[in-house]
Amino acid sequence: MKFERFGRLFVAIATSAVLVCAALLNTACEKRDTQGGPTGQSDAGLPKEIKVGIYMPMTGPTATFGTSSVHGFQMAADELNAAGGINGSMVKLIVEDDQGKPDEAKTVVTKLISKDQVVAVLGEVGSSRSIAAAPICQQNKVPMLTPSSTNEEVTKKGDYIFRVCYIDPFQGEVGARFAFETLKFKKAAILTDIKNDYSVGLSKTFKEAFTKMGGQIVVEQTYQEGDTNFNAQLTGIRAANPEFIYAPGYYTDIGQIAKQARELGIKNEVPLIGGDGWDSPKLWEGGKEALNGCFFSNHYSISDPSEHVQKFIKSFQEKYKGETPDALAALAYDGAKVLFDAMKRANSVKGDKVRDELAKTQSYKGVTGLISINKDRNAVKSAVILEVRDGKYVYKDTIAPPGMTAEKPAAAEAPKTAEEPKKEAAAK
Ligand code: PHE
Repeated sequence: MKFERFGRLFVAIATSAVLVCAALLNTACEKRDTQGGPTGQSDAGLPKEIKVGIYMPMTGPTATFGTSSVHGFQMAADELNAAGGINGSMVKLIVEDDQGKPDEAKTVVTKLISKDQVVAVLGEVGSSRSIAAAPICQQNKVPMLTPSSTNEEVTKKGDYIFRVCYIDPFQGEVGARFAFETLKFKKAAILTDIKNDYSVGLSKTFKEAFTKMGGQIVVEQTYQEGDTNFNAQLTGIRAANPEFIYAPGYYTDIGQIAKQARELGIKNEVPLIGGDGWDSPKLWEGGKEALNGCFFSNHYSISDPSEHVQKFIKSFQEKYKGETPDALAALAYDGAKVLFDAMKRANSVKGDKVRDELAKTQSYKGVTGLISINKDRNAVKSAVILEVRDGKYVYKDTIAPPGMTAEKPAAAEAPKTAEEPKKEAAAK
């Protein structure tokens, strides 16, 4: 008995000694690295301060995307640092404004990497901006994670580029399925923001899915972000007599489009259906009434009763003076946490190490659903459908990707797929 206890003590002392030695070695390596190369590129151990770059539209037409996302990132970083950071190292976020312009996104991401020497990049929301800046991260071997860019092209830019949201081939199908199966519509009009990669991609995948199901596209029209008069397009749409208008643009133009459609006599019975780009507290600018009965696909719903979702909403509101987190804030919070988690596991901020750990992310329990990164560095997740009603979003449905079961709030006990119990056990 005595010997056994002594034995255990010996093992404990020996282990501590090894750990202390390892720590000393780490410090030594770090010192060497800081002299020879940029801080944070140290192979062993972590720098005291971990700099993460963020590029977002903090000004310009889509500024609510930037504000919401930065709030989500900041909350995740503050929680992390309060709980001891990444294995003792604190995370510092450096935010750059790209004004919602692809060229500006390239400029600020270059600055974040070369001047600030960030070890990872979070951003953007808009796919066109993420597509522009991703190659810069890829060339510099700095992992980039977009919380919310859904265009398929983004993560194709290379193996350092990740996302924690679903992609538009799925989102387009979700819109088509909801219109065709739930609303029983057969005739669609499509209205696309032609200069926006996200809008163009989503219209394309919606069209493919809807026509494959047996639906018909009766008319297609285009506009450009910032246009204020949609008369010509809407007159063309009215003449074709569709049952709904698929309008996957950003919130900036949707309110005006809806208002002008109603003024032209296209009644609320002919809803606009859109994608996640509608999500903003400013969607209604242009007219609440005109949007009543319209629908859009999104990433999460604030009416999800799950404890962790409600807890997130409550903490967010406490932190940001009553502001309700939209999908951007929720995805940013999840995205930052997935990145921090990968850094913790890597116990390093070296680009390739963090990349490898990001790629291994499985069943991370985010507020926007379970996040598993697939071989194309995308997350495969369910989408929710929200109805717009008197300036509020009303939860309608959850649509899961093929092979997955939708976890609908009303049927939380829905049977799980064979894979899930195992994945959930690994979830954090
Ligand atoms: N998915 C959009 C894009 O790729 C951005 C977006 C995401 C907007 C979520 C709102 C909410 O451009």
